[in-house]
Amino acid sequence: MAIHQRFGEGFGAAFARALALPRRQGFVSWAATAAMCAWLGSTPLLADDEAASGRTTPRPERTATERDVEAQRLREIYRSDRSRWPPPMIDPGIEWREIGPLPTVVHPESNPLSPAKVTLGKTLFFDARLSSSGKLACASCHEPNLGWADGRTVSQPLRPAPARNAPTIRNAAFHGLLFWDGRAESLEQQVEQALTNPHDMGASAEHVVGLVSGIPRYRARFEEAFPNEPVTFAALAKAIACFERTIVGGRSRFDEFVAGDAAALTDAELIGLDLFRREARCTNCHHGPVFSDGRFHDLGLSFYGRSREDRGRHAVTGDPKDVGRFRTPTLRDVTRTTPLMHTGMFELSGVLNMYNAGMVTLKRQDFQRDDPLFPVKSPHLKPLNLNQQDLADLAAFLGALEEPRHRMMPPDLPGLNDEAARSGR
Ligand code: HEC
Ligand code: HEC
Repeated sequence: MAIHQRFGEGFGAAFARALALPRRQGFVSWAATAAMCAWLGSTPLLADDEAASGRTTPRPERTATERDVEAQRLREIYRSDRSRWPPPMIDPGIEWREIGPLPTVVHPESNPLSPAKVTLGKTLFFDARLSSSGKLACASCHEPNLGWADGRTVSQPLRPAPARNAPTIRNAAFHGLLFWDGRAESLEQQVEQALTNPHDMGASAEHVVGLVSGIPRYRARFEEAFPNEPVTFAALAKAIACFERTIVGGRSRFDEFVAGDAAALTDAELIGLDLFRREARCTNCHHGPVFSDGRFHDLGLSFYGRSREDRGRHAVTGDPKDVGRFRTPTLRDVTRTTPLMHTGMFELSGVLNMYNAGMVTLKRQDFQRDDPLFPVKSPHLKPLNLNQQDLADLAAFLGALEEPRHRMMPPDLPGLNDEAARSGR
């Protein structure tokens, strides 16, 4: 459903795309990361922190035999119950939860699950007539075949800043606060905002209610979902939210592994799992069943003081500490939802290179010396000094979080062709 065109990507995105091409040689990826940091306005690499591992250079890569031994050792450890896994490397003060299977979705009392509501919600999710232009459905930017994201750098490149990358809606049921900046507190609220935000669907409540009320088959579906209730904007938002709560994962090979199938992960993925929890320090923020702490962190990607500036969480709370902070995204199915980060400027290999370098630390200009809003990078990010083999193993582990492919047929939309055909017109 390629409804809106891919616009020119501009220098930044093209540059990042070029940098993030998978490179095997250490120097090339180092040089690429250094160039990236310069472009993002950061200090030179490794300038401010000591590497978390205490190493000043990556350790040598393992030989094939050494890898076999290591993988066997880890398989013995990790095949046991998760409560017996080695402790992750977590900074003091962080409340973390082990990564693991997804819980059952809890539908709120104010919007209980019903098949009729899910059917109505799904129909609305795919219906572009809801938007002011008549061209954008939720599914235009959250396509089932693109991991429920849209594969674009940012969804609306021409909108005034901040333009952001569309996250997946899979497992959104498990997020407390929604959007990169957490401005919606429930899926119901999020849907209402997506429908009316001029940069998403730009519709009015009257338009949406009018559409559903004006088409007999839509009205009938509504009646099934909400018997004896008038068609309201709030009820339509509830139906879409109810549908969203049915889009959950939990069938990845990682899930099979933690469910007891010790052969579900390859050696590389297993080594990657251990790195993810320990030496690469990822579980400091990506923990729990959805691989997100639900909190907000500054990774140095705010472009503070520049034309692309996005202050993230600060726009919601007004708290100077929140400048540049974004909600930790889920990593489930992350290999399907590139490009990555709120800016949509990175491929996975680029992201891993940047974490390895400790991410970027923005450089204060002279006039910013006393600026209380100047963003401060999360203290939990430190140079990792992982070698290329480690980075490949980490990437392999993230690949094991992929859900099996599943094609969802778009529903037939009430009031289009079908009715005319049925009535013989
Ligand atoms: C023009 C593209 C576009 C359309 C249309 C669109 N979205 Fe989004 N969606 C986005 C972008 C971009 C974000 C991130 C915005 C932000 O965080 O500020 C987002 C965020 C979300 C999130 C939050 C996910 C998370 O992890 O916090 C959900 C859920 C969602 N959209 C569902 C919907 C639904 C439901 C609709 C239809 C009513 C819809 N979207 C329409 C682009 C779109
Ligand atoms: C300090 C907390 C923190 C740590 C530690 C951390 N992350 Fe993240 N991660 C985040 C946040 C926050 C974002 C989104 C940042 C943004 O867009 O500005 C993110 C984004 C990502 C993304 C992009 C996801 C997407 O859908 O766009 C990937 C992949 C990722 N992290 C992997 C990792 C890996 C692998 C590690 C360990 C090497 C790690 N992270 C360590 C907080 C963290």
